[in-house]
Amino acid sequence: MTEHTVASAEDIPEGEGKMVEVDGLSVAIFNVEGEFYGVSNRCIHKGGPLGEGFLHSELPVINKDRKSIHCPWHFWEFDLETGRHEVNPSTGIRAFDVSERDGDVIVTI
Ligand code: FES
Repeated sequence: MTEHTVASAEDIPEGEGKMVEVDGLSVAIFNVEGEFYGVSNRCIHKGGPLGEGFLHSELPVINKDRKSIHCPWHFWEFDLETGRHEVNPSTGIRAFDVSERDGDVIVTI
């Protein structure tokens, strides 16, 4: 496992995301209420760019507790901690270990 510094925490404000390249992988990093999450940037449905998707917590929905990302193309929803598809948890995308240390956002792969 290798740690990769991918961004400054201040570059990813709360409620926003950023796409980064890590070890040849395209990773979408999100800041949800001050916690950082990372998932594959490529949706398993038709390859939509999840880094351009919509955080569940930012949508006008009643239950904002879910920490998930909605694909911008057809709205499939994935859990940001596990990568699991919210409707069919037997499938999903890769989720990465992301942390913040001394103002840096670090992805461990
Ligand atoms: S490409 Fe992501 S939901 Fe269709």
